Amino acid sequence: MKSIARTVVFLSLAIPTIVVASGSGSGSGSVPVQQPFHLPSDREVERYEDDKVWRIDWSPMDHGRKKHVMNVVELLDLDVWHTSQWSIDIRLNSKQLEVLYGYLPNEAFHPFINDLQSLVELSSVQEEEYDYIPFHLSGETTQESVERELFELMKKKKKKGKGRTKPKPSLPPIDPYNLTTIDTPFHDKFHSLKEMYKFGDTLISTFNDTHQNTSGIHIKEVDIGKTYENRTIKGWSAKIHHNKTGEGDPGYPTVTVDEDEVELEFVVIAGQHGREWVGPSSALYFLHHLLLRASEDPKSDSAILLRSFRFTVVPQINPDGYEYSRDKSRMWRKNRQDVGGKGKCLGIDLNSNWGYKWRSSKSTACSEGYAGREAFEAYETKAMSEYLSSAAERGNRVRAFVDLHSYGQLFMFPFAHSCDDFPPDAEMLMEAGLGVAKAMRTKQGEGYEAGQACDLTYRAPGDAIDYSYGVTDVRWSYSAELRDTGTYGFMLPPKLIRPTADEITAGLMYLAKFIYALEVNPP
Ligand SMILES: *[C@@H]1O[C@H](CO)[C@@H](O)[C@H](O)[C@H]1NC(C)=O
Ligand SMILES: *[C@@H]1O[C@H](CO)[C@@H](O)[C@H](O)[C@H]1NC(C)=O
Ligand SMILES: *[C@@H]1O[C@H](CO)[C@@H](O)[C@H](O)[C@H]1NC(C)=O
Ligand SMILES: *[C@@H]1O[C@H](CO)[C@@H](O)[C@H](O)[C@H]1NC(C)=O
Ligand SMILES: *[C@@H]1O[C@H](CO)[C@@H](O)[C@H](O)[C@H]1NC(C)=O
Ligand SMILES: [Zn+2]
Repeated sequence: MKSIARTVVFLSLAIPTIVVASGSGSGSGSVPVQQPFHLPSDREVERYEDDKVWRIDWSPMDHGRKKHVMNVVELLDLDVWHTSQWSIDIRLNSKQLEVLYGYLPNEAFHPFINDLQSLVELSSVQEEEYDYIPFHLSGETTQESVERELFELMKKKKKKGKGRTKPKPSLPPIDPYNLTTIDTPFHDKFHSLKEMYKFGDTLISTFNDTHQNTSGIHIKEVDIGKTYENRTIKGWSAKIHHNKTGEGDPGYPTVTVDEDEVELEFVVIAGQHGREWVGPSSALYFLHHLLLRASEDPKSDSAILLRSFRFTVVPQINPDGYEYSRDKSRMWRKNRQDVGGKGKCLGIDLNSNWGYKWRSSKSTACSEGYAGREAFEAYETKAMSEYLSSAAERGNRVRAFVDLHSYGQLFMFPFAHSCDDFPPDAEMLMEAGLGVAKAMRTKQGEGYEAGQACDLTYRAPGDAIDYSYGVTDVRWSYSAELRDTGTYGFMLPPKLIRPTADEITAGLMYLAKFIYALEVNPP
């Protein structure tokens, strides 16, 4: 086996990007810096014809070898999609692949997504168009079925180009912003930030306590802060205020409330990584489901929970990265902050930038995992951390914090930075986490696993749940990796939004009930 130093020298000859990686830190040098990779100009949209996603199997490798691989990945600024105990998924262009072939045993490699560009196109297909693809509901999803699906889609697109579209079936039009039903087509599509925020406004107009039909729900918009590109990060926060005259009413279980007892808050965020589109969609679905159930039935679990907790959902914590992923570069993960990086590289990986045991990364600003020059350098992590740490000023205490990502089908508790840092509440966190995973599995039969973040993925400092647990003392801190396990990866087709959202909604409901039973209303 080659030594890591020799390998990296070799790599630096083979791939121009490493020249940038090993350059000096200041961005003001007069030497023209080589573009590390193809950057889309303002008008063009990045394409991925030359890219494939590979799965590298850890099992034939010992610990040292695995560490070498991770070092190479970091030094080459490779785009890691997912890491688990068994494997790592990496996006590679043909040049990068050639280099890794020289370094890794060939049998450790499996091409996982062969036709990335088509998958990108597939994930942006509207649900109506989908109806013409004969295979998309046919049972199990396999590599083969996806490829067949892509083939059909491309065939259809070509036909469409020739102006031979089939007539659409006449469906009764349902207004996507009619939120009196969970069947609203809003949940069958990925949405722009603007549409998400319109959804939030509509939640208020539909569910806020101005009508007789809303069971005393109060919902308001919360302003978390601004992004680097000056977009507003918004959240929606809901609560049913205690009906003090209603005590004894069988529909309203008596939750003894102290006048000065602090309000408990349950916070859900999503979208730290721009390309992980199903997180934000699921967060909105969860809040919608909660409010709808509570308004329909004051005895529902949702209503009981809303009387005990304030639920705050921030569906899109990284609006700049998300919009960039929608408009320019589907694989964009970070925010869009100028960090003085070489080669015009922009962006901080938000989930490496939180201020608990933060460490600077070996990688450069060109890396998808760039942690920033210091903790909370990113506008977005800073704003959200201020929201979490100012709970006392709002008269409440954040009791739960759940951070939604994709993909991997995992539900994880702290810590992520190291398995040696063991949370005092680990046993309870594991017990609740196992229940959540089971609730999620039960919903649609999709497997979810629970465990400690450092264990289930690769150890990573600067994680949001490490901060929420380690610094702001939020006992029930979790991060979730939603669907899938890699077949579509980040390019989940719209038809899978609803099942994914339905699963995590069941999981979050389970978690809230668990905390309720343990801490709010113990037997
Ligand atoms: C909203 O949808 C529900 C259920 O489909 C329907 O009964 C209701 O009339 C719709 N409301 C509006 C304003 O369209
Ligand atoms: C409650 O009633 C108002 C006014 O009629 C309506 O706009 C709103 O959609 C209703 N909300 C629900 C949850 O049914
Ligand atoms: C929501 O309802 C409450 C109580 O009726 C009211 O005070 C508040 O202004 C309403 N908020 C919005 C955004 O309409
Ligand atoms: C950001 O938006 C605010 C108003 O929302 C505006 O006053 C300010 O000039 C904007 N800043 C930039 C850099 O665009
Ligand atoms: C509060 O409780 C009283 C007594 O049970 C009941 O009549 C009233 O409708 C309740 N109000 C709300 C907003 O639920
Ligand atoms: Zn993520």
